Amino acid sequence: MDITEVILHQHGEQRRMFGMLEEWPRDDHAGLDAVWQRLAVLLEVHAEAEERYFYPELVRLGTGGGDAESVDEEVEDAIKDHNDIRDAVRHVGRSSVGSDEWWKAVLEANIANSDHMAEEERQDLADFRKNASLVRRHEIAVQFLRYEAEHWANGVTPTDKDPEKFVEDYES
Ligand SMILES: [Fe+2]
Ligand SMILES: [Fe+2]
Repeated sequence: MDITEVILHQHGEQRRMFGMLEEWPRDDHAGLDAVWQRLAVLLEVHAEAEERYFYPELVRLGTGGGDAESVDEEVEDAIKDHNDIRDAVRHVGRSSVGSDEWWKAVLEANIANSDHMAEEERQDLADFRKNASLVRRHEIAVQFLRYEAEHWANGVTPTDKDPEKFVEDYES
């Protein structure tokens, strides 16, 4: 296994589920709610697992991937994006399922998540592929998938993080 492949694959699943909502029968509010709840768990557990296992190791090993200025900048930006995604998911949860406000909030979550995934793939995953050994990529994938499997059924309590403090905590 390779954590960069695992993350990339799950991004595909997130895109697929936003696409599913787009063609779901608009009057099936119970179905829309169920699909959204599953997607919300996927988004929140994925972000938390990245913050626990992928980003700390990227802070230690990275040098700045793609168009990132530095590893600090790319990681701070990713944590800020995760906070924005968590906000957008909360906003959907506060809206009445199937209403215009709900659809607008789902679109905002899709935009926040799409922008983040593109940058994460172009900078963070690229940096990790360049600087982490295949053995380390396997070890992080096991920790990441273990955490996700433990929290798949009930999700996690979404917790925003301070981006600068996050980087400082893992720099040594
Ligand atoms: Fe991700
Ligand atoms: Fe992420």
